[in-house]
Amino acid sequence: MARMQKKQKIRKKHTVNKQTTKAGRKLSDTETRTMMKKYGIPFVKQVLAKTEDQAISHAKKMGFPVVLKISSSDIIHKTDVGGVVLDIGNVEELRDAYMKMMRNVKKKRPKAKVDGVLVQEMVPADSREMIVGARRDPQFGAVVMFGLGGVWVEALKDVSFRLAPIDRNDAKRMIESIRGHTILKGFRGQKPVNFKLLEDCLLNVSKMIAKNNRIQELDINPLFISHKKAIAVDARIVV
Ligand SMILES: Nc1ncnc2c1ncn2[C@@H]1O[C@H](COP(=O)(O)OP(=O)(O)O)[C@@H](O)[C@H]1O
Ligand SMILES: [Mg+2]
Repeated sequence: MARMQKKQKIRKKHTVNKQTTKAGRKLSDTETRTMMKKYGIPFVKQVLAKTEDQAISHAKKMGFPVVLKISSSDIIHKTDVGGVVLDIGNVEELRDAYMKMMRNVKKKRPKAKVDGVLVQEMVPADSREMIVGARRDPQFGAVVMFGLGGVWVEALKDVSFRLAPIDRNDAKRMIESIRGHTILKGFRGQKPVNFKLLEDCLLNVSKMIAKNNRIQELDINPLFISHKKAIAVDARIVV
């Protein structure tokens, strides 16, 4: 009996701790992208390239500057392994970034299965970075999460939670209840973000987790939000 309780305790710990999602499978970037599209979450323009030459031809078509990212279900934090290079301005820079990225990833994650590299459009700097997520809690069920994104998530822990499914009023309250709310309203001449688009994103994430029992965790980090646009550039879905 005591042993069983201990086991349950351990299991609980695992589902709560963000780092230990190894039991689940992280969807590939292509699968993740398809899910985002299905639920109407705007995602940055991106293509998967299998080789350096493919990456170059995609970048030319897309137009510089571009972003290069490692694509692998075995890698959760791409930045940590040198797997993200922003603001690549031309072919030469891209070749250099590609070579360094492959070398870093091989060194830091020799066992990771790499699908290729993502070539993405670079989102303009006038946006703010948010995180929108959801997870299935063993006690409470599906929960939606919202907060300041990017590097600030870990540092500030400025997030709000609601049980899914949420309605528009819930979404509004979630957005208002973070401390960083003032940043969204605009300050020092910055225009306020488009709250309607932010709410839409929360509602769509809520739908996604409510309708897909196999999803354990999902994170959009960051979702870039500006006066005009909401756009996700990084998403992770664990099933
Ligand atoms: N397409 C993009 N345009 C502009 N900035 C980006 C873009 N993609 C990523 N970034 C920036 O780089 C950071 C890390 O990229 P991300 O894809 O989130 O990798 P990871 O979270 O796996 O390290 C983001 O938080 C964001 O600040
Ligand atoms: Mg990220």
